[in-house]
Amino acid sequence: MIAIGRPYSQAEPGKDDLVAEILSCQAGEECSSDASWSLSSSEAVHAPSNLSKEQRAQAAAHWSHSGSMEHASVASFSRFSLDLMAMGAPADLVQGAHLAALDEIKHTQLSFSLASLFNGTTHFTPDKFIIPDAKVEIARDLSAMVARTLAEGCIGETLAAVRAFYGASSLENLDHQARQAEEPFASAVLSALSAIAVDEARHAALAWDTVKWAFSQEDGATRSAIISAIKKLAAQAHADDLEPAAHHASMPLSDATVDFLHSQAIQDLVLPALKSIVDKQKFEPRKSAHPAVFAASTAIFL
Ligand SMILES: [Fe+2]
Ligand SMILES: [Fe+2]
Repeated sequence: MIAIGRPYSQAEPGKDDLVAEILSCQAGEECSSDASWSLSSSEAVHAPSNLSKEQRAQAAAHWSHSGSMEHASVASFSRFSLDLMAMGAPADLVQGAHLAALDEIKHTQLSFSLASLFNGTTHFTPDKFIIPDAKVEIARDLSAMVARTLAEGCIGETLAAVRAFYGASSLENLDHQARQAEEPFASAVLSALSAIAVDEARHAALAWDTVKWAFSQEDGATRSAIISAIKKLAAQAHADDLEPAAHHASMPLSDATVDFLHSQAIQDLVLPALKSIVDKQKFEPRKSAHPAVFAASTAIFL
């Protein structure tokens, strides 16, 4: 399942990204879990909507999973701030990492709130975030930090921003009648995605600025990390047979739509932006790109 947020990846190849377990409790139950990670609401228990029970369950599962990923992003940015400090990065990048961690707390709360809203009777919250052996793996050198920043930030958060811009614009473009049919979910999802899109674009910009700074410090190591990322991504672009699938605008994006958006974003945003760093050129957003890709491009780079 695709989630919106920066993962807490592990250095050892093949190891899954870290996430906390999700705790849940039913409305009216004595609940031991901490409700502060959600701006919970039970208003949707009897909410009229054209979404079926199954669709609401699917959306609740998506948003509770997203909530756990956003929760991991808080820890990921804390670790990123240590990486930056260890590499002697300038204050504005370290400040950006701390501010982004605060955004991710808000994204976690928004996501778990949406999960509760769609479910209607269950409240979700993350369990403890357990780090194996209580050891935080700081990047060993600049090229290791660049590789992680490229994967988690320049690629991960750029694609997250594109998905959020696409989802928000699908809801904004609904006509009044279609929008009413999907309430109260449409308004809640639009409000969350609008905030998340802008924040993820800012987080992606922080990652791109970090790689540019690293390039100015040690261009050989950074160049090889970028070239390696370009080679891996080139296979994912130009998938011209992909198309977005129709869906209720307040529902999570389908896998087909996500694949389509990622392909478009890699082709018209991530790859040219990576090449522009190596060529020491300014990346110019492409007006010919898909509107969600262009929206993310301008939010990140202008
Ligand atoms: Fe983020
Ligand atoms: Fe996030």
